Amino acid sequence: MTERFRPGEVWLDTDGKPIQAHGGGVLYQEGTYYWFGENRASDPDAGRSWRGHGIGVRCYSSKDLHHWKDEGLALPPAKDDPTSDLHPSRVVERPKVILNENTRAYVMWMHIDSPDYKAARVGVARSGSPTGPYEYLGSFRPNDADSRDMIVFKDDDGAAYLFHASEWNETMYIARLSDDYLSTTGEYAREFIGESREAPAVFRYQGHYFCITSGCSGWAPNVAEYAVAESIMGPWEVHGNPCVGTTEEIETTFHSQSTFVLPVQGREGAYIFMADRWKPKDLGDSRYVWLPLEISGRSLSLRWRDEWNLSVFD
Ligand code: GAL
Repeated sequence: MTERFRPGEVWLDTDGKPIQAHGGGVLYQEGTYYWFGENRASDPDAGRSWRGHGIGVRCYSSKDLHHWKDEGLALPPAKDDPTSDLHPSRVVERPKVILNENTRAYVMWMHIDSPDYKAARVGVARSGSPTGPYEYLGSFRPNDADSRDMIVFKDDDGAAYLFHASEWNETMYIARLSDDYLSTTGEYAREFIGESREAPAVFRYQGHYFCITSGCSGWAPNVAEYAVAESIMGPWEVHGNPCVGTTEEIETTFHSQSTFVLPVQGREGAYIFMADRWKPKDLGDSRYVWLPLEISGRSLSLRWRDEWNLSVFD
């Protein structure tokens, strides 16, 4: 059977269970892709009423991007410690993992918050193996700034950066990480000032940096926008909405919100836009929308496809 991506459909893992990796990101390492994301499956063991918050970070592995094996909870919740950032009553969102080539540590960054989203912090965890278990190191406000939706991006020269929505989500901060990727250095830039962009997905192609974001409307989808820069700290030039299609598709980003752009290994110019189609009343049934990005110089386009596979990049 020819495998296909089916955006918006239920996506089962190799055990036949729906994949739980929302707000996710993918790390590629020695022939294997690792998909990390929010585990939002209802958990009867959590000992609490379901409030829609995540229960840890789950990891899946794949060689072909179609078949995903559940590697379990890379960062489990701290069910018995109400004071922990990882207690199921708290918010753990948008986990992203990068490998530090010097320390050989896999470093996970994530959005940590209180149920009212006022804590606005980032959390950091570390592991010697991609699938974990990750040791949680704690949370903080990068450069003393509030931090909600975020991503970490590792550049070709090994330097890594945290993009985070700050100033009550009005302005995006780009903060350089320390050499060990465990903290920020103090060097940062304010970009998209007052534009209220979130859900950043960052990648680099042919020397250009691209950042796709959503607007701020909670779980409800809205208009995507992308920006391009020649230097990661900016200036970033806003280019508009990459979506091409019906008015509804364009205004809702195909009913989804960006989370990551996945470079397909060994295929020049092949990048997959990864997004979440959130279901606020049943977050565990939120769907994944993966679509191929069309890149031409400094311009990006995204078109809906009911189903597709990697041959679109041929
Ligand atoms: C969105 C954000 C999601 C989640 C949600 C909660 O704006 O992108 O990651 O935090 O709000 O309402």
